[in-house]
Amino acid sequence: MLSLVSKNKPAISASVLASARIIRLASTSATATTSATSPTSSSKPETSAVKRSGTGPMSFKTRKAIETEYNDKPTVVILGSGWGAISFLKHIDTKRYNVSIISPRNYFLFTPLLPSAPVGTVDEKSIIEPVVNFALKKKGNVTYYEATATSINTDRNTVTIDSLSNVASLNGSSKSSNIAALQQNDSAEVKYDYLITAVGAEPNTFGIPGVEKYGNFLKEIPHSLQIRKKFAANLDQANMLPPGDPERKRLLSIVVVGGGPTGVETAGELQDYVNEDLRKFLPSLADEVQIHLVEALPIVLNMFEKKLSSYAQTVLEKTSIKIHLKTAVSKVEANHLVAKTKNDDGTTTEETIPYGTLIWATGNKARPIVTDLFKKIPEQAKNTRALTINNYLQVIGTKNVFAIGDNAFIGLPPTAQVAHQQAEYLAKSFDKMSQLPQFHEKLANRKNKYDLLFEENKFKKFNYIHFGALAYLGSEKAIANITYGKRSLYTGGGLITFYIWRLSYLAMLLSARLRFKVITDWMKLAFFKRDFFKGL
Ligand SMILES: Cc1cc2nc3c(=O)[nH]c(=O)nc-3n(C[C@H](O)[C@H](O)[C@H](O)COP(=O)(O)OP(=O)(O)OC[C@H]3O[C@@H](n4cnc5c(N)ncnc54)[C@H](O)[C@@H]3O)c2cc1C
Ligand SMILES: NC(=O)c1ccc[n+]([C@@H]2O[C@H](COP(=O)([O-])OP(=O)(O)OC[C@H]3O[C@@H](n4cnc5c(N)ncnc54)[C@H](O)[C@@H]3O)[C@@H](O)[C@H]2O)c1
Repeated sequence: MLSLVSKNKPAISASVLASARIIRLASTSATATTSATSPTSSSKPETSAVKRSGTGPMSFKTRKAIETEYNDKPTVVILGSGWGAISFLKHIDTKRYNVSIISPRNYFLFTPLLPSAPVGTVDEKSIIEPVVNFALKKKGNVTYYEATATSINTDRNTVTIDSLSNVASLNGSSKSSNIAALQQNDSAEVKYDYLITAVGAEPNTFGIPGVEKYGNFLKEIPHSLQIRKKFAANLDQANMLPPGDPERKRLLSIVVVGGGPTGVETAGELQDYVNEDLRKFLPSLADEVQIHLVEALPIVLNMFEKKLSSYAQTVLEKTSIKIHLKTAVSKVEANHLVAKTKNDDGTTTEETIPYGTLIWATGNKARPIVTDLFKKIPEQAKNTRALTINNYLQVIGTKNVFAIGDNAFIGLPPTAQVAHQQAEYLAKSFDKMSQLPQFHEKLANRKNKYDLLFEENKFKKFNYIHFGALAYLGSEKAIANITYGKRSLYTGGGLITFYIWRLSYLAMLLSARLRFKVITDWMKLAFFKRDFFKGL
């Protein structure tokens, strides 16, 4: 069952685990839990604690009347609050499992619209949804820890976490007087019966010097704010310099490295801002902004069929984005980068591209917690990219650890679509597991061939249905290849596809609140300029 094993802290019960937020969310009180039926039934409640951040209570536990008795339920710990984790939370039956989420980010981020955020086409707050909003919709209790998981300890079914908030104030209440609260940066271990790892991936620099120091990634909300701040500051500075000044030219140069969908969509959005907003009040500056898109391959958006990527390239070039193909960046300095272009005759040309703003979008790599797990599971030892999983999404070599999304590899691309479908599938599997008599015990007692138990019990294998791909190019044009599995339903590019793109993303948004906010932002664009504030 859920418990926190905190170094050098006295034991406290799980019932006082919740943060100050309990008071606001509680409808009844809940009790501590023990599990006799889970795969790791030896696990008992041990030391517990939660934390609050310095900026307000973030960790929480919801409480529902239905949840007064839940002693025999296995505990599922979910790592992450992204596509995989939140989609799983939405579908898992919390009457059958105690669910805990651990993530340093207390909100879900709708990544498909992240490229629209730096220039204010959509507001950052319009594409995030607090974890608590999903948790409150569940019938059972959900506990959230605002913490970073630093190690998965499969030998003792625990996850080591580093607290990002603290619960010092809980000590003041009479009920929780025995709490040795975790402070920010304290370390503790959380026990699980089942672990769902959905920590995603992190930006890959390929070890290229200078990228970490000078580049801006676009993977999280703070990245969006950093890009806007940098670009806005550069516009300010450039405006103070006379036309023709090389420094003005550099400041107005934006280099986007990586011609995958992140790089293309970001370049398109930046150019939209320049053409539609900046031009209205600083036309000469807008004319001088030059966006470069640098891609190592001979084509941008190589995951689309050739005619769509060629169309994309034409649209980008028409809007004056300069595309450098077969060009790989090898070094980044404070004000310029070095790139090598492969020529048709086999030779290589090296060029220096000055930049004011550098956006690095060359794909992702495994997070340290995942690479650390590779070393602990012999079957995963040769991996570098992600955890290999079987058809039931079990991490190969484990019985009670499952992986979904970008941190898992099953031969599918690292997309939200895949993460979402895996999460839905896994929640259904968990339903079935809880309905089959003695399934948890049988899995716990199994010594090898863990996947066979799923096969013997006729669990369906995960079957991915590809619904296609879409990408925004800027100037109200998008490309789309909409499919149902192998059947192609629509292939196109242009204005109509742009509206299909918008409708598809509205459908993908995980909550009514997000839909409302995004629609409002898009409507606002018809009447007002983008919110492009340096400090916000
Ligand atoms: C700009 C951009 C646009 C995209 N657009 C699309 C699109 O249009 N369509 C599409 O299908 N895909 C798109 N993707 C890809 C998609 O976002 C990912 O494939 C998807 O987010 C993967 O889901 P995930 O749950 O594996 O990871 P994520 O959604 O990245 O979530 C990972 C979670 O784990 C948390 N975490 C990280 N480290 C730890 C830790 N140590 N302990 C605990 N928690 C941790 C993070 O805070 C986060 O909450 C886009 C990606 C980007 C960057
Ligand atoms: N609209 C969408 O569907 C959408 C949007 C964004 C991301 N995604 C998904 O998210 C994942 C990541 O996408 P992404 O665009 O961030 O990465 P990506 O891996 O798809 O593309 C990265 C690109 O960077 C290039 N590159 C790598 N190193 C380079 C270097 N040194 N110099 C120049 N170019 C270099 C690669 O050749 C590649 O084309 C993918 O699975 C993608 O499908 C989807």
